[in-house]
Amino acid sequence: MEFSVKSGSPEKQRSACIVVGVFEPRRLSPIAEQLDKISEGYISSLLRRGDLEGKPGQMLLLHHVPNVLSERVLLVGCGKERELDERQYKQIIKKTISTLNETGSMEAVCFLTELHVKGRDTYWKVRQAVETTKDSLYTFNQFKSVKPETRRPLRKLVFNVPTRRELSLGERAISHGLAVASGVRAGKDLGNMPPNVANPAYLASQARRLADDFETVSTKIIGEQEMKELGMTSYLAVGQGSKNEAMMSVIEYKGNPDPSAKPIVLIGKGLTFDSGGISIKPSAQMDEMKYDMCGAATVFGAMKSLAKLNLPINVVGVLAGCENMPGGGAYRPGDILTTMSGQTVEVLNTDAEGRLVLCDALTYVERFEPECVVDVATLTGACVVALGNHISGLISNHNPLAHELINASEQAGDRAWRLPMSDEYQEQLASPFADMANLGSPGAGTITAGCFLSRFAKKYNWAHLDIAGTAWVGGKAKGATGRPVPLLVQFLLNRAGQETVE
Ligand code: BES
Ligand code: MN
Ligand code: ZN
Repeated sequence: MEFSVKSGSPEKQRSACIVVGVFEPRRLSPIAEQLDKISEGYISSLLRRGDLEGKPGQMLLLHHVPNVLSERVLLVGCGKERELDERQYKQIIKKTISTLNETGSMEAVCFLTELHVKGRDTYWKVRQAVETTKDSLYTFNQFKSVKPETRRPLRKLVFNVPTRRELSLGERAISHGLAVASGVRAGKDLGNMPPNVANPAYLASQARRLADDFETVSTKIIGEQEMKELGMTSYLAVGQGSKNEAMMSVIEYKGNPDPSAKPIVLIGKGLTFDSGGISIKPSAQMDEMKYDMCGAATVFGAMKSLAKLNLPINVVGVLAGCENMPGGGAYRPGDILTTMSGQTVEVLNTDAEGRLVLCDALTYVERFEPECVVDVATLTGACVVALGNHISGLISNHNPLAHELINASEQAGDRAWRLPMSDEYQEQLASPFADMANLGSPGAGTITAGCFLSRFAKKYNWAHLDIAGTAWVGGKAKGATGRPVPLLVQFLLNRAGQETVE
């Protein structure tokens, strides 16, 4: 798929299709107006006859519009002009792409990027259009013996911008959008991979490949033997019931002209399968626990985007790979573990395993003297109860870092919402036998999980993203979303001083 920007008038385009907006009720956008004029009222006559109302997502494909050089004109319903917001815009782009892809236009010139979207500039509109396009064309067919094929798929998309002055902004938006999209894709591919293939060693092999592909990247794999030497007992306990060796992949990206500049550290929960262990999960939808490595998958994706963007910062990405299985060697409820930090944890439920893996990873990364640490994890079902599938949970011990992440999440259209963390919640983790239990008394499960992690993140500025509700969608269209790659990459772009505002 190829993207470019252009600044021209619609009647002069010689393309398979030009895409223009129509507002509700039957109101032509300025570009559609232009086409209507040169076609001597052809388009407005169709609207008068009731062919298109302009409702959001409505599509009308026209052939041989009089005096228009392009083969087709796609009229796209955009809803009420004043109500065109970010979400609506993305939905309209999505619908447009699937229509183009299914109706034989292999290339198109899209004028929807000229529509007014509340509070958003050309950079944003083009970048979101690129990301949304890639997102809607994504398929995961690796394991289909017969691969579904589109006969004349969309290959080339040109976004029109209102003035030549905005061309360079548009080009930048395309390159940022493509970098984000490639990270999202990597995250989805890893996430969707079945758990018999994507085990911790597979995560490690992907991390190694990233180092082969980019000179700025190096990778180190820490297996169980080295974890033992490091004292990562808690991490090891979670994996001890599995035949698949636990492996922590440490990906170092060095882009800062000063190679010793402090890095930003990203840590991803990489439970390649979470059966719950001895505290086994119910069988309904247990297959979805292959997605319990989406934190690691998206940290991997963000590292890939970062390497493509070649940003002038140093970043360490940690994929905390592990499998949580029951069995004769598995850890049990009642076990007391000494974490790498020296703090002890009483295991009350082997299904609260993510935090037991992450706590040792959080201690491990102290050696990098991080600028800040962000962990990403499908950590709690409670987060899905609190925020549903739309917004990720955020917990942090540092207000400026929390604000930075929330801002990035809004810029990227990959939202997060901060939850509170305070001492009352910390008390819920008390254990009669150890320094803490691995789960809190009932209530506020996402926050108590965050509280648990915070006890291992005292030496640096830290934030935690709970992506249990946002990392994948269930049901008929089951699949990984690649979230929060857009958020993470935006955060890194901003840190590198490369945010683009008009
Ligand atoms: N990976 C799960 C969390 C999860 C569940 C994410 C469902 C998405 C959908 C995590 O390891 C887990 O099992 N958490 C428990 C914690 C509880 C035992 C304190 C949970 O949320 O039920
Ligand atoms: Mn679990
Ligand atoms: Zn889990």
